[in-house]
Amino acid sequence: MRTETGTVFRLQDYRPSDFLIPETRLIFRLDPRETLVTATLSLERRDPAADVTALKLAGDGLVLKSISIDGKALAADAYEATADCLIIKQLPSSSSFSLTIETEIDPEENKALMGLYRSSGNYCTQCEAEGFRRITYFYDRPDVLSIYSVRIEADRANCPVLLSNGNPGASGDLGDGRHFAEWHDPHPKPSYLFALVAGDLGVIRDHFTTASGKPVDLAIYVEHGKEERALYAMDALKRSMKWDEDVFGCEYDLDVFNIVAVSDFNMGAMENKGLNVFNDKYVLADEKTATDVDYALIEAIIGHEYFHNWTGNRITCRDWFQLCLKEGLTVFRDHEFSADQRSRAVKRIAEVRTLRTHQFPEDQGPLSHPVRPDVYKEINNFYTTTIYEKGSEVVRMIRTLLGEQAFRAGMDLYLKRHDGDAATIEDFVKSFEDAAKLDLSQFSLWYHQNGTPKVTLSTAYDQTAGTFTLHLKQSAIGGPALNTRKPLLIPLVFGLLGRDGSELAYTAPQGVDGSVIRFDAMEKSFVFEGLKEKPILSINRGFSAPIVLKDDFDVAHRLFLAAHDSDAFNRWEAINALLMDALKNAVGQEKTGAALDFPPQILSLMGKIAENDSLEPAFRALALTPPSEADLAREIGENIDPDAIYAARIALQASIGKANAAAFEKIYAANAINGPFAPDAEQSGKRSLRNVLLDYLSLADGGPGRAHQSAMQSGNMTDRIAALSVLAHRFPDADETRTELSRFEHDFRSDPLVLDKWMQIQATIPGEQTVARVRALMNHPAFSMLNPNRVRALIGAFSSANQTAFHSADGSGYTLFAEVVTKADERNPQLAARLAIALRSWRSLEPVRREKARETLAVMAAREGCSIDLSDILERTLA
Ligand code: ARG
Ligand code: ZN
Repeated sequence: MRTETGTVFRLQDYRPSDFLIPETRLIFRLDPRETLVTATLSLERRDPAADVTALKLAGDGLVLKSISIDGKALAADAYEATADCLIIKQLPSSSSFSLTIETEIDPEENKALMGLYRSSGNYCTQCEAEGFRRITYFYDRPDVLSIYSVRIEADRANCPVLLSNGNPGASGDLGDGRHFAEWHDPHPKPSYLFALVAGDLGVIRDHFTTASGKPVDLAIYVEHGKEERALYAMDALKRSMKWDEDVFGCEYDLDVFNIVAVSDFNMGAMENKGLNVFNDKYVLADEKTATDVDYALIEAIIGHEYFHNWTGNRITCRDWFQLCLKEGLTVFRDHEFSADQRSRAVKRIAEVRTLRTHQFPEDQGPLSHPVRPDVYKEINNFYTTTIYEKGSEVVRMIRTLLGEQAFRAGMDLYLKRHDGDAATIEDFVKSFEDAAKLDLSQFSLWYHQNGTPKVTLSTAYDQTAGTFTLHLKQSAIGGPALNTRKPLLIPLVFGLLGRDGSELAYTAPQGVDGSVIRFDAMEKSFVFEGLKEKPILSINRGFSAPIVLKDDFDVAHRLFLAAHDSDAFNRWEAINALLMDALKNAVGQEKTGAALDFPPQILSLMGKIAENDSLEPAFRALALTPPSEADLAREIGENIDPDAIYAARIALQASIGKANAAAFEKIYAANAINGPFAPDAEQSGKRSLRNVLLDYLSLADGGPGRAHQSAMQSGNMTDRIAALSVLAHRFPDADETRTELSRFEHDFRSDPLVLDKWMQIQATIPGEQTVARVRALMNHPAFSMLNPNRVRALIGAFSSANQTAFHSADGSGYTLFAEVVTKADERNPQLAARLAIALRSWRSLEPVRREKARETLAVMAAREGCSIDLSDILERTLA
């Protein structure tokens, strides 16, 4: 592990490397504790005329065994090798030479899960962002592209499968029970895309023929016995390959495409060229073990990693400040893929919910950073929802501003112009400017100015003049102070509706382009003419801009949009806003000790939505789900009392359930699924509607009977988990809950990935007693501090999705949290840093909790031996 502290990396310091490495040859002699890596790099002076006399390569925890240049061992005074870097001080004067380095590494002891490590006895790698330097000394930076040839030698019995990037080459026996395999990747790539997998794995195979007729062998490797559970992922892969050809004209470019599922993985998955490595959570699925949400995530992440082949691999990033170049764009592509495979409206609502729940608090709090940051201490801490999700929203806005066709032309130009490059955000934006003959300089501010933009609107209608005036004002929550902010170009898709819901005709003012208002000043009025009736405004349709919108709409206006807007997203948005207002009001009542009440029209609206068969069930399920406790906390913004928020939300849910019990019962029955299980959008929509209703009906019943029945009858994991959640969260002390929890534990005692769901449900039971429950579960045989999935299921869920327990007024939640984060940090700093962001909104808490949270953060930050990853997060959170 690196030990230096305080190095700050700045975009402005970027300069190209002194040397190029056109070719890299690697030989791995695999051994659990003593793996030998021989790397032979062809080095080429970038500028032969420049007087470069030393070469510095990065390392991390390496042991150097030997070093030679052009076949001759280096004298001891010709170089300096530490665990973290290699400096060669005497170089041949020739313009190119060959450097051979032998290092020894210990995969078994590697619990940081970066570089080469072991997972369930198999060898695998994770090199993004800076893990390759834990394998050998290298220019471990994304702008040094090299052609890799890899030879793997290993024990045949333990490692029958030997994989690396590119196409397979020779393989054979070495005697002594060992064998070898060679791989060659013809596409130059940065070191972060290198991958190796070796082990004893099961496999499913399929094939795909590209648009130009090139055959590709597909394989997904999983633990033995789990092959069947990879079939859905394979199907998603083939659909991804076809979709990328159809929608972006991107064809696959190797003879093979391999995916490996591993059980110890820090992130979701990794796009290594031709050899994607996945967290098994995002590969394995069948009806009995995976929920509809799992299926949708598998489809999205399989797509995401595959789409990186063009946006990430063929065109990579010049430096890590450009991370959103590949991540924002690829998230946008996977969102579009899922939208095309499922329901576009439902997908968009889900995206916006995620953005608001995770990205908005990040952008509005102490960890706020621009989509393209210009400074970092630890790059692993920048794989954030801002880079990914806000990065995707920025690409979406480019499409909104350019229109479908010009956007595609810009993408084509980007892919053509920069194929084989390590590119920048400026290169990306320029491609759209050139293709659309447009100036996007003001728009580019979205990449550089952090904080959630806020647009405040007011409207006026003049009956006699027939004019409708829309006044817009922009500011922000988080990010630079208002007086230093520059105005963003904000694309607002809109419609003016008549009383019958039709779109009214009007004469548009300047700055309105079809259905898009281009709002580009701190403040501006738009006057629409030719309106004989007072229009009803629908704005930011489809969430065209990732902003907080403060409108002047009254309840009648929202009810109208909820019923009539042709934009499905805004129908949902209107409903959501009504529920949010009702909840905020109830939190106020709760704090003053008043009885909670909710407007009857809101309660009956919920009944009408549930009954509206013209709306797809998945949409109804989303519309019937009130904003989460975290959303409500963000909306309130200060002096947060999680108990009051919980009380308000559960009271609203109980009132909705009681007011609509008869109707809900009918819809519940009407949406039963007959026939075999399918993980498709239609069935999953029905299941989600039924399961939302199950919760309401159980609250109305005031007892666990209904959920218990459902849990016992459920033939699939979606229904089983939904019922178990209702039992655990609404009736934690009921016998039925105990029975169902133990039945689940028993059924999946040998499948930790499935047991994670059981952990997660218990970790999110509201109330401070859950702290003790989580402590007890940490001693469960299935729990392990070394496996990120286990830690996230129990502790991640507890700290990020259980407001009342995590923020227990007595501080016991924080104490547990600090213990676990500290423990995680000893072996896996990335995991610890990821967990630690759960306290980023500590300043919005009420004073007692705020002080306890601050102290927790300060104690963690002061600990001797705190990793760079963790201290970076803690220091910024406290700053
Ligand atoms: N590039 C991967 C993805 O988005 C994420 C890998 C990040 N890994 C890390 N250790 N920071 O699919
Ligand atoms: Zn990605």
